[in-house]
Amino acid sequence: MSSARKPNAGKKGGKKGAKAPRLSPFATTTLVLALIGYFCIVVAWLHLGLPSPDHSIKDHHLQHLWFLIGGGLWGIALARWLARRHEARQPQGAWLFAALLAPMTAMFLMWPSAYPYVEARPFLHASMHLVFVALGALTTFAGYQYTRVVGWLLGGSLAVMAWLAAFFFGVTAKPNPAVTAILDARPAPAPTASVEGQKVFDQICAACHMTTGAGLPGAFPPLAGHLPDLLAASGGRDYVVRVVLNGLQGAISIGGVTYNSVMPPWQQLSDQETADALNYATTAWGNEFPEGAQAFEAGEVAAARGEALSSQQVHDLRGQLGLP
Ligand code: HEC
Repeated sequence: MSSARKPNAGKKGGKKGAKAPRLSPFATTTLVLALIGYFCIVVAWLHLGLPSPDHSIKDHHLQHLWFLIGGGLWGIALARWLARRHEARQPQGAWLFAALLAPMTAMFLMWPSAYPYVEARPFLHASMHLVFVALGALTTFAGYQYTRVVGWLLGGSLAVMAWLAAFFFGVTAKPNPAVTAILDARPAPAPTASVEGQKVFDQICAACHMTTGAGLPGAFPPLAGHLPDLLAASGGRDYVVRVVLNGLQGAISIGGVTYNSVMPPWQQLSDQETADALNYATTAWGNEFPEGAQAFEAGEVAAARGEALSSQQVHDLRGQLGLP
């Protein structure tokens, strides 16, 4: 491998000569180790997912493995970078202690009885992955300070532990009841306000209903605190889609305030944009979908579009909702 050049062990005169600075084989290896570590962490991060039916606990533990390996390689790279070259040193017990403490902490983090607590706190869980990186780095760095071999050995054993957690002690043959309970209790993804929906709303609807959804009493009806009532009425969901597609004309009364004006149709919005805007308005400002309702979808907008109602006919629809 690094057979050819054997720079004189002494480093004096490092700057002499006009040659461009070159990385020594030692520094190159250090850099490569750091880059591989970076790669491991990025890959693990991109695949980050909390346990879910389509992301098994085993896979998740394997991600921990990548975080640990990445962190471990960083620890070694850092130790090498600080040392700049191999040098004999007196092993110091304190470093060994630090190096052993980290794997034990990692062990606790992956202990099955900690799952329920961690699972209930997604932010904590996500942050813990950074702790894995730090623990991996600490283990190898401290081990390396003790002696090089110990650094590599401890890093390796940490990786083996994470691997074992993925296949053995971290997962039980039967689904872990604690985890299953969490997964079962987790509600189906709630319809949420999408960024696209807010864009459409703010560009178009907000001109009248205001960005706060509060409307303008007597002129433009509020959607904040009101849209959920429409959706809760039987037929309300279909009505709302048709208001946006066909407009609305006729007297309506909301919370004792009468509105008798015209909302123009918004045919020019795509099916998806219409659905997005409605999803946004139904989830913004404290609004919520009625229990069990799904988010609006492009398909139902497309179906309603075919009906081409007049804005007065939409007003008739409203009369059938049985609103107060
Ligand atoms: C040009 C002003 C204007 C714009 C823009 C507008 N609306 Fe309206 N909207 C109104 C008016 C006025 C009414 C009430 C019409 C009436 O009095 O009959 C209304 C009514 C509604 C209603 C029915 C309220 C009820 O109680 O029946 C909904 C839902 C609604 N708008 C949603 C939207 C959405 C979503 C957008 C954006 C895609 C939008 N509006 C854009 C003026 C507007």
